[in-house]
Amino acid sequence: MNLNLLVLLLIAGTECSRILFIHPSLSRSHVIPSQILAKLLAKKGHEVTFISPYPQSKAIENFRDIKIAASEEEMNILNEMQKEMSESKISFSIMTKAMAMLQDFGNDTLNLPEIKDLMKNDKFDLVIVGYIMNEYFLGLADHFKCPSIVFFPAFPISALLKMVGNPLSPEGSLHILANLRTLDSFVDRVLNFIVNAVDLVLMKNFFDYQGKAVYDYNFPPDRYRSYDEMIRNVSLVLVNTHFTSSGPRPLLPNLVEVGGLQVKPNPAPLPEDLKTFLDDAKDGAILFSFGSNAKSIYIPEDKQKIILKVFSKLKQRVIMKWESDVLPGKPKNVLISKWLPQDDILAHPNIKAFISHCGYGGVIEAKSNGVPIIGIPLGADQKGNADKIVEEGWAVRLDMTDITEESLTNALKEILSNPKYRDIVGKQAILAKDRPMNAQDTAVYWVEYVLRHNGAPHLHYPGADLNFFQANSIDVILFIFAVIYAAFKVIKLICGFIFCRSKKGSNEKLKRN
Ligand SMILES: *[C@@H]1O[C@H](CO)[C@@H](O)[C@H](O)[C@H]1NC(C)=O
Ligand SMILES: *[C@@H]1O[C@H](CO)[C@@H](O)[C@H](O)[C@H]1NC(C)=O
Repeated sequence: MNLNLLVLLLIAGTECSRILFIHPSLSRSHVIPSQILAKLLAKKGHEVTFISPYPQSKAIENFRDIKIAASEEEMNILNEMQKEMSESKISFSIMTKAMAMLQDFGNDTLNLPEIKDLMKNDKFDLVIVGYIMNEYFLGLADHFKCPSIVFFPAFPISALLKMVGNPLSPEGSLHILANLRTLDSFVDRVLNFIVNAVDLVLMKNFFDYQGKAVYDYNFPPDRYRSYDEMIRNVSLVLVNTHFTSSGPRPLLPNLVEVGGLQVKPNPAPLPEDLKTFLDDAKDGAILFSFGSNAKSIYIPEDKQKIILKVFSKLKQRVIMKWESDVLPGKPKNVLISKWLPQDDILAHPNIKAFISHCGYGGVIEAKSNGVPIIGIPLGADQKGNADKIVEEGWAVRLDMTDITEESLTNALKEILSNPKYRDIVGKQAILAKDRPMNAQDTAVYWVEYVLRHNGAPHLHYPGADLNFFQANSIDVILFIFAVIYAAFKVIKLICGFIFCRSKKGSNEKLKRN
């Protein structure tokens, strides 16, 4: 090939674009995968503007943070919800408050002077929305006249499947909130169908009702395309799942699984204190973390005491994520820290077990690194995650209310001394990594694909524009039944007529004889 042409192609292939990435979630563990994707894009030379409550601690090339902050009232609701979550009892009142807060926070964000400024003065080639029931941010894509991508840091819920017209396939794809292991029986399928329907009808319609108000206020219909139009206009949905964890399901080409995005292909070096602590752990070490939403200081005090007592008797060392500088009665073999590079710690060869609340991210990280789990699930989807990995054979589940010195000691003994758990998760780790492109490269590829083609209308599935009856061919099936019924009636009529005539004919014959 002509060298000039090659150079030209290379330049064209790495053209830099301006990307607006907005993820106004108060849940840090949701924002982290978004930031990982944003940083990968910045590294490829794109100019990324990232709007979230969690700016980077140090400056990154091509990466501009715009920090948004929740009000005190909003933070209180969040804290209350986290507290209830860690006590495994989410009340209806906190759910409705949290849902309303979500919309208020989005609306406030769109009305911040920084964002108004950005909308007035900046130009973008792509808008990526970090999804949290906030379709109204898609108005930004219309504002900047550019394509849009939706990124969801978890499993594809109905709203996302519907966004691109992907089949919900309740007959064969487990809904994560249905908390089922298989769909072998009729009862399982009924349950799975109901959860899918509730997710779609209640959640989606409820949030659409609220979201549309926020959209119409910020993107008035006289100047912008409609809410529904902008949802149908999404070029690509990226979800942080992978069939090796969540099972196979039919997926359209514009619904791409990038599960494992937060698992670095090569772990980053650990901070010095953690590295020494783990390197010197001759008998191995255990990681204890309840993620970033459910704070471990909310663990009931009596359970805290039990947990620490059990830890103090272990020969293994323990790294604990703890949101306070002090931990009364902290044993010598325990290290506490407010923020931990969980993925890099799990990659350390001395880590033998992970005590986790079974958030989706933590489960994936443990699986990719081949570390067995002791699951203490708190929220609904965490219970499902925990049961699933118990079923897969590389975890034991222990509920908060069941924690006693004996039960925790037994769980630890089982995980640490029975080689079965490590063998199984080791094999799973190999499966999860066997892909044509790793999760990071896959995500970057598809984002750049949308940039290269300035949107992806050619991926738009015609079924996405149909209503429920059309999309499930119910109208067609009814029509065909109606035709068959009518044909049957006509045939019956004709037969009746012929039969009558021939009867009449034979009667006449009889008479003559
Ligand atoms: C959005 O915020 C603006 C300004 O703070 C307020 O006037 C408006 O009522 C809010 N709209 C919705 C739908 O919450
Ligand atoms: C979005 O809308 C624009 C403008 O009408 C259109 O050109 C583009 O094809 C649409 N994109 C998708 C993915 O539907």
